[in-house]
Amino acid sequence: MSVQALINEGQQRIERVLLEAFTLAPCPDSRLERAMRYSVLGGGKRLRPVLVYAAGRAVGADMAMLDAPAAAVELIHAYSLVHDDLPAMDDDDLRRGQPTCHRAFDEATAILAGDALQALAFEVLASADHPRLGALIRTLGHASGRSGMAGGQALDLAAVGNRPDAEQLSVLHRHKTGALITASVRLGALVTLDESDARLEALTRYGEAIGLAFQIHDDILDVTGSTDVLGKTQGADAKRNKPTYPALLGLDEAKRKAQALLDEALDALVSLGDDARPLADLARYMIERDH
Ligand code: IPE
Ligand code: IPE
Ligand code: MG
Ligand code: MG
Ligand code: MG
Repeated sequence: MSVQALINEGQQRIERVLLEAFTLAPCPDSRLERAMRYSVLGGGKRLRPVLVYAAGRAVGADMAMLDAPAAAVELIHAYSLVHDDLPAMDDDDLRRGQPTCHRAFDEATAILAGDALQALAFEVLASADHPRLGALIRTLGHASGRSGMAGGQALDLAAVGNRPDAEQLSVLHRHKTGALITASVRLGALVTLDESDARLEALTRYGEAIGLAFQIHDDILDVTGSTDVLGKTQGADAKRNKPTYPALLGLDEAKRKAQALLDEALDALVSLGDDARPLADLARYMIERDH
């Protein structure tokens, strides 16, 4: 199967699962409900769910068992984008080719939509019938909060105007973006593997390498991409003096770093054999994509 077919398949599946998540329980406020649906159901590459499905399949998991973790991680991701775009953070007007949530609605609604999407992620995950539910919830919580994405976002904001060194930038990117991508791979794998399984360790190394590579490529696209194709405003990082790999190392060295991380990711997959081929294709896609 081509990587594009793999992505399309995951996208189609997750759209349905995400739509279902909104039927778990009612929301008393229609504006909040609309803002949440706007932020989750309005496109996006769905790469985190695709990774959950591919990692799960690589270790023999059943697709239906992967739906809840895949939806949960995408809901956390959607929340992180809504808050990332707020005026207090990156202050962006465009996301996935549409006005950002706080632009389409208002700031208070966007804050609440993010809060409620995070809660919905855990509600969806905890509602799954799963033998390792505790490990799944812990994995997602760890990757989303102070030890993961939120911790990295704090580092990101603190670094604006304070040029971080290469080690600090790596720590920042590994937290703000790498943690949730690594968690996507681990969530898929934990559907069938125990936490002590050597394959989980290999998949974690893969996730960490592509997680950092993914954010480096996102930084590169901010320089080399176009607003139309990206669906977000090109050049926004430089304008706001954001801590990025091209700003620190230059474009060529940033590309070399992403390529070296791809090699690390592919190396981590060797012990998994042919079943991991879709994960290898996805790793390549991470640093070749145009948006
Ligand atoms: C954007 O993530 C935010 C980063 C962590 C770089 P994606 O590039 O996966 O965004 P969508 O979901 O496809 O819009
Ligand atoms: C986002 O990094 C990381 C998140 C946790 C959302 P960016 O700020 O670079 O993401 P974009 O470029 O706005 O999508
Ligand atoms: Mg940001
Ligand atoms: Mg941003
Ligand atoms: Mg960016």
